[in-house]
Amino acid sequence: MKTVPGQTIEIEGKNFRLFLTRSELQQAVDRLGRKISEDYNCTNLLFVVVLKGSVIFAADLVRAVQLPSELEFIRSRSYYDSMVSRGKAEIDIAGLSLAGKDVIVVEDIVDTGVTISAVIQRLNAFSPNSVRVATLFFKPDAYKGTIAIDYIGFNIPSKFIIGYGLDYAERGRNLPDVFVLDSNEDADN
Ligand code: IMP
Ligand code: MG
Repeated sequence: MKTVPGQTIEIEGKNFRLFLTRSELQQAVDRLGRKISEDYNCTNLLFVVVLKGSVIFAADLVRAVQLPSELEFIRSRSYYDSMVSRGKAEIDIAGLSLAGKDVIVVEDIVDTGVTISAVIQRLNAFSPNSVRVATLFFKPDAYKGTIAIDYIGFNIPSKFIIGYGLDYAERGRNLPDVFVLDSNEDADN
């Protein structure tokens, strides 16, 4: 799909408007990749990608990091088809081996922090050497967590966004740009 500034799209009867272009996203991802490459001096880096939303970001981020690294995937579900956090996260972790690894958890978006807190708690049980978090989007006004978010692409207002991996009712993940719910639309509860 081609997008031009000001373009709007409709998904499941909701209107979204262009928020960040693919080149703005790419610049942020490259900046995070450079920072991670500077910060780590190790040969045991492991990216743990939180599916599904983070897969597009992770694919670009790991290629922007100039260090030997491994990739693992875990799955979390928190939003289902709604736009509002249920305050509960289901995490599927199958046989991860993290002992001695420097782990970077790759998240698409940290909202209330329920998901990332649950992920970190579960990962710590596998005795990694260290754990940090890289998220493309962070909603500081919604965040109620206590863990530090080490790498942030964009601080954004508490609005619902889609594209570049992020979905509304499983739609919109493949949009190369990011769109925000129109302010005159209600987020459903
Ligand atoms: P949290 O547990 O409230 O921090 O929410 C984290 C998860 O909710 C993310 O990994 C996303 O799957 C989803 N989420 C939060 N905000 C948005 C959004 O604006 N658009 C799409 N998904 C979102
Ligand atoms: Mg996610």
